[in-house]
Amino acid sequence: MEKKELVLYSREAIAERVGELAKEIDAAYAGEEILIIGLLRGCFVFCSDLVREMKSKMEIDFMTTSSYENNESSSGEVKVFGDFRSEVKGRHVLIVDDIIDTGHTLQTVAEAIEKMEPASVKTAVMLDKPSRRQVDFSADFTGFPIDDVFIVGYGLNYGPYYRNKPYIYTYED
Ligand code: IMP
Ligand code: MG
Repeated sequence: MEKKELVLYSREAIAERVGELAKEIDAAYAGEEILIIGLLRGCFVFCSDLVREMKSKMEIDFMTTSSYENNESSSGEVKVFGDFRSEVKGRHVLIVDDIIDTGHTLQTVAEAIEKMEPASVKTAVMLDKPSRRQVDFSADFTGFPIDDVFIVGYGLNYGPYYRNKPYIYTYED
């Protein structure tokens, strides 16, 4: 039998929060140009909604990160690969991801970017699971904090699926 979807954040609730975040981020950069670095693949929905609500001048690039050995738990070892093209030195970098969970992904990427001598590095995520953190790292901009439940939709996947769902949901037991 198919399990029933339990929607945590509707399309409307997400849109409203993304609009607020965009304003918050624009205000924090106060007219400075931003280099957005989205972390594929999870960022693709949030990042595209966020940047279209922002007014700051920006360049947008992507990195591919992968931390999973199985589907639901992080291995702690983050692989960064892909086709990153931008000059980072002297730029204000904003790393964008779908969710901060153990914190390994954002911490690893932020450290790698720091080595490239940016003017600043900040991070933005749609979701935060603070109770799952394994490293001392928090995002500068967060959409919604959530409890320790496995969620999908709005870019978040289970295996290869569900990233395209326009809302954030879990399954009823
Ligand atoms: P971290 O390195 O543990 O912070 O994990 C970051 C990555 O884990 C995210 O970019 C997601 O791909 C994945 N992740 C963490 N929690 C969930 C979840 O509840 N659903 C789907 N993916 C998740
Ligand atoms: Mg991801």
